[in-house]
Parts: sequence; structure tokens; C-alpha cells
Amino acid sequence: MVASWPEPIVSVQALSQTGLSTVPNRYIKPAHQRPVYNSDQSGLDMEVPVLDMRDVWRKPEGLRRVRKACEEWGFFQVVNHGVDHMLMESVRGAWREFFDLPVEEKRKYANSPDTYEGYGSRIGVVKDAKLDWSDYFFLNYLPASIKNPSKWPSQPPKIRELIEEYGEEVRKLCERLVETLSESLGLEPNHLMKAFGGEDKVGANLRANFYPKCPQPHLTLGLSSHSDPGGITIVLPDEKVAGLQVRRGDCWVTVKSVPNALIVNIGDQVQILSNGIYKSVEHQVVVNSSMERVSLALFYNPRSDIPIGPVKELLTENRPALYKPIRFEEYRLLIRQKGPSGKNQVDSLLAST
Ligand code: OGA
Ligand code: NI
Repeated sequence: MVASWPEPIVSVQALSQTGLSTVPNRYIKPAHQRPVYNSDQSGLDMEVPVLDMRDVWRKPEGLRRVRKACEEWGFFQVVNHGVDHMLMESVRGAWREFFDLPVEEKRKYANSPDTYEGYGSRIGVVKDAKLDWSDYFFLNYLPASIKNPSKWPSQPPKIRELIEEYGEEVRKLCERLVETLSESLGLEPNHLMKAFGGEDKVGANLRANFYPKCPQPHLTLGLSSHSDPGGITIVLPDEKVAGLQVRRGDCWVTVKSVPNALIVNIGDQVQILSNGIYKSVEHQVVVNSSMERVSLALFYNPRSDIPIGPVKELLTENRPALYKPIRFEEYRLLIRQKGPSGKNQVDSLLAST
């Protein structure tokens, strides 16, 4: 992996703060990628399902709803998820304060494409690529062997503690969710976690996303269309500012977040493990001209050094393995080089291609 970015990094937040009235060319997307705001055209249900963890945890009827959500949407919102609501608010607030620091302060954590860890503004190293209207901070949380809090922000003062506490609570939720997904696929409760490499060996990263105000939001995206490369993702959205859109057929559905809910989505590794029964669905983020948006995405991933392929128990004569096994450490390099590009990556593993 290359060690440096192909062009100097520009903080989009700093750019936005100059009060510019047009979006620089680097951020203007080709017409077919620009945001669309669909009203319902298809007759399909247009709201991301909302599930209550108390109704789905080890309950057959609830597990059927999980299955439906993962087959049809690849996304759901979850309430009664066990993560403390005050903690959610505090950790999001702490990240907001971090992004409000002067850009020179944040640049001390500037990241590079070899690990992505730190403060950055682009994904992918393709020269002259169109860029997204956002900045982020990316850090490693699991496994413990690669967690290094000295690389995390030291300001505001409580942020490291809050990241630890939030990470711990979301880790517990992810363990319950992986068990829930396993059962909802008709597998033994611990089957999927074993396929992930076991809870002591899984990986987790946190990405804090900052989407600044944008003078011409219809010309760009806060985050281009992509599916998440890992296992499952838990998004803590901005309580006040919508922006996340999920692909639904030919439409983009804007998620209306329910108070105190977390958003769960299936990543490419679960699509692969489930042999395509569960879908890692494309999503993107739109920005707006009046409000900045902060979200936290925790990516919960299989152990990175074992091959991940379809679970044998899910294969049938009519539905043989769709994907070639691949290690996550290898899979992840592709998005780290090319940047977000819809579902091209998981599709490239289709066994027939
Ligand atoms: C991501 C992502 C959504 C959001 O970080 O992969 O899809 O709402 N984030 O910021
Ligand atoms: Ni995503």
C-alpha cells in the first residue's frame, strides 16, 4: 500500500469555513452521481425497518423480522439496544468538539493511506478523483493488539475515555447482533461468530464523520455511494440532521432516525458469509447548506487473517457458493486504494467471474 496521498489534503471543514459560495470542481460529482431525493415511486415500503432488541433477541418471530430486514434492506434501526443514551450523546458531543478545534490542532493527527488511522479527508489514492464533502477521524478499537489510544485525539479532555466506554458498549451490542444474525439465518447461535474468527479475534474500527455545510449540496455528496467492506456497521447518526440515504431498488431512501436508535447495516463480509442471503446495501450521505452533521460509524469485522467464504451450512444444490473466499485484510485494500465505488468490490468476488 502506498504511504502517501496523491495530492495535498484539504480539510473540507476549513474550506467550508472560508464562506465560499460555490463548490470547487474537485467535489462536483458527475450528473448521474448527484443526490436525488425520492418520494415513493415504486410502491415499495420506503422506511428503513425499526427493530426493538427486546423483541428480536432469541425470539422466533423477531428473528423472522431481522431476516426480512437483512434480505430486503440490509439496514435496520435498533432501539432498546443497551447502549446508554447519555453516553451516545456525550461521545457525539466530544467528537463535535474535536472537529471544532483549529485545523492545525487536528492536522497533528493527519493520516496516511497505509493505515488510515488518524484525521483525514479522503478515501482512496486515485489521483484526480472527485472527492467527498467530509472530513473524518479513523481509529482502531479491536483487536486489543492494534488499539493505540495515544493515536486518538487528546482533546476535548474526556474524549479517549468516552471512546473506550462507547466502544465497549457497542462491542457488546455487536456480539448480540452477530448471534441474532446467526440464528436468523437458521444457524446455531455461535456459528457466525465462529466464522468471524471468534470474539477475541474480531476487529473493530471507529470512524467519526464530519459533514460541513455546503454551498451547493445538489452538486456533491458527503460520502459517495458504497457498501461497507466489513462485517456489520453500527451508525450513531446526528440527532438533528438527516443525510444518510440507502439504496432501495432504483430509489434513494433518506433514513429518518428514530430518537436514541442506532442504525445497523450489513457489510460485504456478512453478504459473503451468508452466501448472498443477506445484502450489504449501497448507501451514501447527502449534505446541506445550513447544518453540519456528525456521525459515528463503528465497523465490526471478522478476524482479518483467515479466509472468509460462504458458510457451508447455507449452501444447497440450487445455491452453490457464490463467492470465492478471501481474507479481510486483503479485501479491505481494494476500497483503501480505489475509494467508495458502490458494490463493485463484492461483485468482483462472484465465483463465476
Ligand atoms: C460510513 C457511513 C454513514 C453516515 O461511515 O461508512 O456510511 O451517516 N456513514 O455518516
Ligand atoms: Ni458506510
